[in-house]
Amino acid sequence: MSLNTNTWNRLRYTLYLPVYDLIADRVFRKHRKRSVELLQANPSDAILLLGAGTGLDLPYLQGYTRLTAIDITPGMITKLQQRAERLGIPVDARVMNGQQLIFTDNSFDAVILHLIIAVIPDPVACIREVERVLRPGGTVMVFDKFLPDGQRPSQLRRLFNQVASTLFSDINRSIGDIVSHTTLQVELNEPAALGGTFRIVRLRKPL
Ligand SMILES: C[S@@+](CC[C@H](N)C(=O)[O-])C[C@H]1O[C@@H](n2cnc3c(N)ncnc32)[C@H](O)[C@@H]1O
Repeated sequence: MSLNTNTWNRLRYTLYLPVYDLIADRVFRKHRKRSVELLQANPSDAILLLGAGTGLDLPYLQGYTRLTAIDITPGMITKLQQRAERLGIPVDARVMNGQQLIFTDNSFDAVILHLIIAVIPDPVACIREVERVLRPGGTVMVFDKFLPDGQRPSQLRRLFNQVASTLFSDINRSIGDIVSHTTLQVELNEPAALGGTFRIVRLRKPL
């Protein structure tokens, strides 16, 4: 049984805080940049960063004026606010559960989901919330590791995932399965880090 719950995530990401940037910055830098480029947003678009962490995406969002960032771990939000101040980027940053957003329907032009869909305990609840708060025609950028759609994980992989999903992130999720619970459409799905294990996926909410 996996320990992947919101309470556990809040605790472990608080513990990871001192070393998080050392691990998640340099390795993923070019993929964050690529994902933000593929978003093709306007500087005045309302953009939500869900599970925003310490704000490692912010350097690629300079010039955007309506950014909102949420994360379930208070320490992550504090670090993100410090980074935003250093970079001079205005961000409305809040502690919030990505499976239960307090925002009204259709309130964002775009949502950025970097390294969160494979971490959050209930990715379907999360993507449904994203669909709800996104305006029709709005865009979602996902960057994460996924199993190819339709591939079933081996027994060994399922066993190993008990540890992986508790300490790092789930290695057995398929983006197609998760998105199939919404009306969101996959517009683009390209290989990113680790020979395509990590993907950059662009989703659109139909008009
Ligand atoms: C792997 S980190 C990714 C952070 C950031 N997006 C990045 O790319 O560096 C996962 C983040 O998801 C957050 N998180 C986990 N469960 C969450 C939830 N239910 N709602 C919001 N954030 C959550 C964690 O606190 C952590 O900051």
